[in-house]
Amino acid sequence: MNKPKRHIFVCTSSRINGQQKGYCHANQSVELVEQFMEEITDRDLGGEVFVSNTGCFGICEKGPIVVIYPDNVWYGAVSSDDVEEIMEEHIENDHIVTRLEI
Ligand code: FES
Repeated sequence: MNKPKRHIFVCTSSRINGQQKGYCHANQSVELVEQFMEEITDRDLGGEVFVSNTGCFGICEKGPIVVIYPDNVWYGAVSSDDVEEIMEEHIENDHIVTRLEI
């Protein structure tokens, strides 16, 4: 297995019992995961960039939350309109999308 160069974590408010219930989930974060997956495929980055859904980061009021490692960059209030920009600017060109950074 190759370790990814970048790992995108999207809060989908996943709970330990398997339920997804919370602020980010209620604000279309599952769709964000799907969009990131599509972007990764379309850009042929499947071996380099992973995306995973997560539980609550504890900052729901700033959600939906997207965290990118190893950069330790946290984005807040991410919407569908922001996914392409994050992929293009951050993932492809190493430029943090400062307007979304928290
Ligand atoms: S539910 Fe996403 S940060 Fe709390």
